[in-house]
Amino acid sequence: MSKRKLMFLGPPGAGKGTQAQRIADDFGIPQISTGDMLREARRKGTELGNKAAAFMDAGDLVPDEVVIGIVAERLQEDDASHGFILDGFPRTVAQAEALAQMGVALDGVVNIQVSEDEVIRRLGGRLSCPTSGCGASYHKEFNPPANEGVCDKCGAALYVRDDDQPEAIRQRLESYSAKTAPLVEFYDGRGKLLNVKGEGTPAQIEERIRAAVS
Ligand code: AP5
Repeated sequence: MSKRKLMFLGPPGAGKGTQAQRIADDFGIPQISTGDMLREARRKGTELGNKAAAFMDAGDLVPDEVVIGIVAERLQEDDASHGFILDGFPRTVAQAEALAQMGVALDGVVNIQVSEDEVIRRLGGRLSCPTSGCGASYHKEFNPPANEGVCDKCGAALYVRDDDQPEAIRQRLESYSAKTAPLVEFYDGRGKLLNVKGEGTPAQIEERIRAAVS
């Protein structure tokens, strides 16, 4: 039951990363976050990271071919052979079609539904962990770490993402509406969509997701 191929969909700040981490840890499957992979590439200064940087800082999507390539490679790794949670991919219809062409049949697409006012409040106070393979996210007010400024999971110093600035947040919301929201209809039409109300405590939302995927 736990070895599922799931995708978490929702606007920036919906809680995809927070929930993907909770469910993936418990199900024993990897969380595959394209945002985390791109940020890691930037920190290492790789060609991919340099290519992605300007798009990310502006709140725009990185070109499809770049992201499709890194996901195709990641899905070849052993830990992804029995299940995974895709967090932040696909984000365009072209990416969803490429995923299907890779032979990946998703068991479900969890669509986390949150109002725009709520995502703005959440992104405004987010603190992120920079550690590769950790990537935990916190909120100054709604989901604070046990010790101020320090990741509960790995002890690293937390930071504020460059794209959590007002202008980039606005652009990310626009990109979501124009390019990612059409995936709701795409997956609904294929019988894969699982709508989950994304407002409430992280624990309440986790329960709703568990109920939806089981
Ligand atoms: P990415 O890192 O995927 O960013 P995003 O989709 O904008 O999503 P976020 O990480 O901002 O939000 P989230 O839904 O994970 O929320 P979180 O759990 O952190 O992508 C970044 C960039 O990379 C993109 O803009 C693009 O440039 C590029 N990119 C990535 N993938 C791409 C792709 N496939 N194609 C092209 N480009 C791509 O929660 C948010 C905050 O709310 C936190 O502070 C958290 O603590 C708090 N919170 C969570 N749950 C709750 C709750 N229930 N109540 C109160 N607060 C909560």
